[in-house]
Amino acid sequence: MNLFLEKYENYKSTVNKRLANIIEETFVDSEVINAMKYSLNIGGKRIRPVLILAFCECCGGSMSQALDVACAVEMVHTYSLIHDDLPCMDDDNLRRGQPACHIKFGQATALLAGDGLLTYAFNIISKAEINNDVKIEIIKNLSEAIGHKGMILGQDLDINTQQNLTLARLALIHSLKTGDLMRVCALIGSLVAGAELSSQNLASQYGETIGLAYQIRDDIMDVVGTEKNLGKTVGIDKKNNKITFVDLLGISKCKQTVENLSYEAKRLINNSMFKNCEFILKLTDYVLGLDI
Ligand code: IPE
Ligand code: IPE
Ligand code: MG
Ligand code: MG
Ligand code: MG
Repeated sequence: MNLFLEKYENYKSTVNKRLANIIEETFVDSEVINAMKYSLNIGGKRIRPVLILAFCECCGGSMSQALDVACAVEMVHTYSLIHDDLPCMDDDNLRRGQPACHIKFGQATALLAGDGLLTYAFNIISKAEINNDVKIEIIKNLSEAIGHKGMILGQDLDINTQQNLTLARLALIHSLKTGDLMRVCALIGSLVAGAELSSQNLASQYGETIGLAYQIRDDIMDVVGTEKNLGKTVGIDKKNNKITFVDLLGISKCKQTVENLSYEAKRLINNSMFKNCEFILKLTDYVLGLDI
C-alpha cells in the first residue's frame, strides 16, 4: 500500500473505532439506536472526517484534538443519507452496499435514526475537549452549513426545482447540498488547530471547491458507475427525473469540469501557510477519482 493510502486508512480506522465507542456509550437498547448503528457501521468512505483530521494536522494541530468533532460530522452526513434515501426524497433502496436504513428498519425508524444522529452529533461536539470559544465557532459554522441556508436548502432545491434549470442554478444546488458540508469540514479542521483567519478562508474555499466537484462526479457516476463499486442504485437520477450536470454538459465536459475544480482546489492549499499539505493534494485527486 502506498503512503497516501496507508494514511487514509489510518484516519478512517481511527474514526471508525471512535465512532463505535461513542455509539456504545449510549447504553440504550432500542430500535432507533440499532438503526443509527446500522447506518454508521455498514461502510462509507469517511471523506468528511478525514478532511477534518487532515486539515487539523496540516494547520499544526493533532488528530486527537479533532477526532470527536470529526465523528460528529460523520453522524451528520450519515443522517443526511438516511433521509435522502427515504421514499419521499430519492426513494433509494441501497446505501453503502446494503439495504437503505428505511428498508431494514421501516420509514418511521429511519426518520428517527436520522434525527437521532443529527441531535447526538451536537451533543458530542458540546462534550469535546476543545476550547469553548472554538467549540462555539464550530457549532455556529456547522449548523449554518447544514441548515436552511446550506445543505437543507440544497436538498429542498434539488427536490423542488427541476424546471428550466441553468448550469449556474445547478452549480448552486450542488454547492449547497454537498459543498457546504465539505467546506465546513476543512474549516473545522483549521479552527481546531487554531489556524489564522487567512488559512481558515483558504481551507473553506478548498472544501467548497472539492464539494462542488464531488457532486458533479456523483452525477457522472450515476450514469457510468456500477452498483458494486458505488454501493448505491445506478441511474436513480434519471428515474427520479432529476436534471444533473451530465444532462446539461455531457460526460466529457463534466469530467473536464471536475479536473479543473481539482486543479483549483489544489492551488488553494499548495501554499506556505499549510505545513505538509502533500496528503491533502493527493486526497483531492483520490476523492474526485482522478488518481488513476
Ligand atoms: C454521498 O456521499 C452523498 C453525496 C454527497 C454524493 P459519499 O459518497 O461520501 O458517501 P459515503 O459516506 O462514502 O457512503
Ligand atoms: C445527496 O445527493 C446530498 C445529500 C445527502 C445532502 P445525492 O442524492 O445525489 O446523493 P446520493 O447519490 O443519493 O448518494
Ligand atoms: Mg438526493
Ligand atoms: Mg440520493
Ligand atoms: Mg447522487
